[in-house]
Amino acid sequence: MAKLWGGRFSKNTNELVDAFNASIDFDKRLYHEDIRGSIAHAGMLAKCGIIPAEDGEKIIAGLKDILADIEAGNFHFDVTLEDIHMNVEARLTERIGSAGARLHTARSRNDQVALDMHMYMKREVAEIAELLLKFEEALLTVAKKHEKTLMPGYTHLQRAQPITFAHHMLAYFNMLQRDFRRLLGVWEGADMMPLGAGAIAGTTFPIDRFMVAEELNFGTVYPNSMDAVSDRDYIIEFLSFASTLMMHMSRLSEEICLWSSTEFGFVELDDAFATGSSMMPQKKNPDISELVRGKTGRVYGHLMAMLTTAKGLPLTYNKDLQEDKEGFFDAIDTVKFTLAVYRDMILTMTVNVDKMAQAVSKDFSNATDLADYLVRKGLPFRQAHEVVGKCVAYAIHQGKFLPEISLEEYKQFSDLFESDLLVALKPEHCVEARKSYGGPAFSENEKQFAIGDKVLAVQ
Ligand code: ARG
Repeated sequence: MAKLWGGRFSKNTNELVDAFNASIDFDKRLYHEDIRGSIAHAGMLAKCGIIPAEDGEKIIAGLKDILADIEAGNFHFDVTLEDIHMNVEARLTERIGSAGARLHTARSRNDQVALDMHMYMKREVAEIAELLLKFEEALLTVAKKHEKTLMPGYTHLQRAQPITFAHHMLAYFNMLQRDFRRLLGVWEGADMMPLGAGAIAGTTFPIDRFMVAEELNFGTVYPNSMDAVSDRDYIIEFLSFASTLMMHMSRLSEEICLWSSTEFGFVELDDAFATGSSMMPQKKNPDISELVRGKTGRVYGHLMAMLTTAKGLPLTYNKDLQEDKEGFFDAIDTVKFTLAVYRDMILTMTVNVDKMAQAVSKDFSNATDLADYLVRKGLPFRQAHEVVGKCVAYAIHQGKFLPEISLEEYKQFSDLFESDLLVALKPEHCVEARKSYGGPAFSENEKQFAIGDKVLAVQ
């Protein structure tokens, strides 16, 4: 089809150039925003007397028909028309004649694509926010169910101190809550309307950018036309939100892979959320967690790609900026999939309460509590640490755990030890005693649940 910019050219475009230059294969995703944006633009042009009112009406009706056609699958996207903007505009003019040819008055694809991307971003951010909250809600549900489920907490992947599964899940809830706040920031960053910037320097026509902003529910308007067409900060902000969220999801994934191994056996994924092996009949693999861990790298890649694309560009629009889309779309899909599948996966997984309890009672994660016990009897902490270190070495040598050492044996290390030391060693006591703000004590987690319920209710 003839190019909309063909006037100064005397030859057809080389086929490879058409194919390489085109973005229609991926930017057709923007069709809804492109058409809504054009409707707002045409309405404004007519109201401001820049185009005849009846042309405005024809344009709007024509665009609505095109929208219906696309939604019904009756629209042929033509690669020679390069992108979504020219596909829609060419079809409009084909349908309604010269009125369609007035649509692009006071507009460039540079501000048009920026508008589409801002609108698309806002819509997707709203959907992601919902998925994120639903996942947070699931984390809270699992946490509440396992308020009293004891397990070893790890540092350096070595058993460190007893905690509860609830406390562990609440840690993720807090991480995701920060992601949610970052997402709100992304929305605000995208809530600025670029249309009217033209190709670079605004327009000679008496347009009303604020009218368009209001029509399309934007809070503000870009105050500088050059910034409006070259800004991609909002995409970088989204990708950096997505990278951080995926980093959190990847850490959870790593834990689920570990926990579902035979060595840990802390959780078992529901059959609907695990996969088998084509060769080994016994296998049940946590593919979803592995994929989320794997896809995280891809999302980081998109962030790095966007930063790199933007870093060397002179103002304002350069075609390099067309590269802002595929990574952005892919990150959106990845984040949405991850949140949706993870929600159901964690709600259906079996938490092996006995296996966790067994792990926490057969280890030395209560050693700090024994040191704290001596401190309460008057010994300075550094000395208590030394004494308990010796007790641990002695127990390991005897092939025993701390509760299995007799009081007489303990007395060899310090005569501050009394028979009540056994209470201090009980994992549930270790947890219950940690009432410091933010600690794993049941009473502290109850407060966290209440806070969690409250933030989910207001968001
Ligand atoms: N497909 C282009 C993009 O996504 C639209 C803007 C093209 N502008 C231009 N002056 N060639 O960036």
